[in-house]
Amino acid sequence: MRNIVLVGFMGTGKTSVGKVLGQRLKRPVMDIDRMIEEREGRKIAEIFEKEGEVHFRALEKEAVREAAASQGAVLTTGGGAVVDPENLARLKETGILVCLAASAETIYSRVKNSKHRPLLKEGDVLGEIKRLLEARAPFYAQADYTLQTDGQSPVYVAKVILKKLQGKY
Ligand code: S3P
Repeated sequence: MRNIVLVGFMGTGKTSVGKVLGQRLKRPVMDIDRMIEEREGRKIAEIFEKEGEVHFRALEKEAVREAAASQGAVLTTGGGAVVDPENLARLKETGILVCLAASAETIYSRVKNSKHRPLLKEGDVLGEIKRLLEARAPFYAQADYTLQTDGQSPVYVAKVILKKLQGKY
């Protein structure tokens, strides 16, 4: 059984939609960021602060390797995970990649009060979202499916995904 892998930018609803998919399909959900936090015993923001992004990416790569080795799971990834070509290849090998997308403005409204996103914590947050979205577009474009999530609830997005993927996983 193939994994269903949710990829896409921060604030596009990967975690919430992943939970709904897991319930509907009665499949385990593996969230890469939570795997890292559990293993390290601290939050992503703290890892970024104390050891920096390069170290976080190494931990992320390890967690992706482990998650991609499973079968028939719903995997939810951090927004930067598929920027690494090795991560992208591994996830694709065992899974169908669904990219959740949203406009910069929607993302901004969803993340502006969040304190756990080290890449978007200060300065011109909307500008940074736009810059990162553009830089990451070629990576997200490699997903098998892309869904726009602006104005949609996680339950609705999950339903659309299930319809699109019927018979494919
Ligand atoms: C990141 C996204 C975050 C988390 C880390 C880095 C990114 O996950 O992995 O803060 O590079 O886009 P979410 O997409 O779940 O917020």
